[in-house]
Amino acid sequence: MKLWGGRFTESTNELVEAYTASIPFDQRLAEVDIRGSIAHAKMLGTCGIIPAADADLLVAGLAALLDDVRQGKVSFSVEDEDIHMNLERLLHERIGPVAGKLHTGRSRNDQVALDMHLYMKSAIVEVLEAIRGLQGALVQTAEQHVDTVIPGYTHLQRAQPVLLAHHLLAYFWMLERDADRLKDAARRTDMSPLGAGALAGTTFPIDRVQVQTELGFEKLYENSLDAVSDRDYLVEFLAAASLIMMHLSRLSEELILWSSEEFGFIELADAYCTGSSMMPQKKNPDVPELVRGKTGRVYGHLMGLLTVLKGLPLAYNKDLQEDKEGVFDTLDTLLPALWLFKGMVETMKVRSDKIAAALARDFSNATDAADYLVRKGLPFREAHAVIGKLVLYALQQGKNLGELTIQEYRKHSALFEEDIYHAVQVETVVNRRAIRGGTAKAAVLEQLAMARATLANG
Ligand code: ARG
Repeated sequence: MKLWGGRFTESTNELVEAYTASIPFDQRLAEVDIRGSIAHAKMLGTCGIIPAADADLLVAGLAALLDDVRQGKVSFSVEDEDIHMNLERLLHERIGPVAGKLHTGRSRNDQVALDMHLYMKSAIVEVLEAIRGLQGALVQTAEQHVDTVIPGYTHLQRAQPVLLAHHLLAYFWMLERDADRLKDAARRTDMSPLGAGALAGTTFPIDRVQVQTELGFEKLYENSLDAVSDRDYLVEFLAAASLIMMHLSRLSEELILWSSEEFGFIELADAYCTGSSMMPQKKNPDVPELVRGKTGRVYGHLMGLLTVLKGLPLAYNKDLQEDKEGVFDTLDTLLPALWLFKGMVETMKVRSDKIAAALARDFSNATDAADYLVRKGLPFREAHAVIGKLVLYALQQGKNLGELTIQEYRKHSALFEEDIYHAVQVETVVNRRAIRGGTAKAAVLEQLAMARATLANG
């Protein structure tokens, strides 16, 4: 017999039962569901809606059930459709008919909304911790590489040299915005829908604020229809998660490129790589590859939920049950990705010798040669043209800018003097960019201090 079976004369078709049930995935809500029920039962008692003794029985029964759930001693059944009805049935088995009073003034519609708000409140805290972990690894690795210069790219062509610390810190700030977005979404997650009933509120004089306070919610929904229909906060979470995955995917791409022999800038630790079943020499960067790949499913969940919501009339519709799997899968994808990246960044080896060899043979100091002429009075556009010709000439000679003779320089412009050699040295090139946010060591050290302070302020 279903909890809602009164007006039915036939039993549910088995396929319907399996298709409509959410228990296979919403059992993750068991703990928050019970916490919500405990708060609701207490409030029913204090408001005199049920006798205080009954409220005590409900609370004790629910607390015991919570213990068993935490110890994994409870099993759920698909006949009871979802976590809410499974738990009510289990409570009934333990404390008898008084269990039937728990649902007074409540619907599964406001109950499931409450559960998701509670669940996501702590899930967001977990994601923030994981972000902090990776940010810490980036700062720590950056600190070790304030003297390591790598080629900087635009169009994946050598552009200007940058400090490895500077490059890594770029990801620190991306993650900082990600954390900020999550904290903002957390404000709209921190709202209690309980009291909305099925859609219109309840006839019982319940105290919504008591439940709100007991569960530690910042705010109440002020409209019952909105309270049971709102999934905006989940969309916001999925959007924030999509951006985090996008950032991790970009970093993945760089770690994959950098660990190829063609770049050879880094070597990932063995613990974070796998081998090939056929080719004995292989060491594959599976972790960043999978994170890059799994970014797709998180974007998919965002699109999925937006699409579920777009045509829904108020208030609750069963479609809304589709909010859960995507959100849970996003958490299961995102959290390990962040923790894996922390470990991977902390343990990767930087191949400074290979990087130095790569830098020695490029033209990433060409902008600085042009800036040199500008400092000698030439308009930048003309300086650009002179150096363009000079680079072409050097390429034909098989030389780089440091290897040209002063006569070769002077053939292109009389403004060149011996100090040009200092101007095109890689250290000079990096350290001239001492502007705030630039790649000079002094600027990067300031940036590092700001990143450290940001971490320290939580
Ligand atoms: N399992 C449902 C969900 O996740 C709970 C709410 C069901 N409400 C209802 N009237 N069928 O959305």
